[in-house]
Amino acid sequence: MTKPQIWVAAFLGLFILLFILSRITKEETTTNSPVNSTVPQTDMSSQNISAKELMSKLSCTTCHGTELQGTKMGPSLHNVSEYWGRDKLISYLRNPSSFSDTERFQKYEEQFPGMIMPPFSNIDVKDLGKIADYLLELK
Ligand code: HEC
Repeated sequence: MTKPQIWVAAFLGLFILLFILSRITKEETTTNSPVNSTVPQTDMSSQNISAKELMSKLSCTTCHGTELQGTKMGPSLHNVSEYWGRDKLISYLRNPSSFSDTERFQKYEEQFPGMIMPPFSNIDVKDLGKIADYLLELK
């Protein structure tokens, strides 16, 4: 082969290589995209996450304890089924202050001075339902 022929061959080889590479990367992005598009959906209502994981993610455990046994910052969440039904508990989590006028909550105020249960109204209701189901089973 003459020198120009070698150059032509080298360029051709390079182009073929680039073409193959671009095909490969294209295939990767198309096979990846269905996976990517499902991520925001699962994020919106954390379907694959357990109630326990949700509660540590939302830092419920910071105030109520890692086993929800209660701390200096919040009461125990065991046996709350004595006081709550599912729907009422969900409304409570969304807006705790609207339930604070009972005797039980006035006691909590004395027991945990300066601490308030924050509202979780921006959390997906499905997630709050999952938490409520879990708490109502917690003896
Ligand atoms: C900043 C601390 C704090 C965080 C975070 C917190 N709580 Fe509370 N929680 C309290 C306090 C304090 C009370 C007592 C009532 C009050 O002061 O409003 C309470 C009360 C409650 C009650 C009512 C208990 C009863 O006897 O009826 C439930 C249920 C509850 N919290 C669940 C949760 C859940 C679920 C989360 C997370 C999504 C959470 N809390 C996050 C501090 C907290």
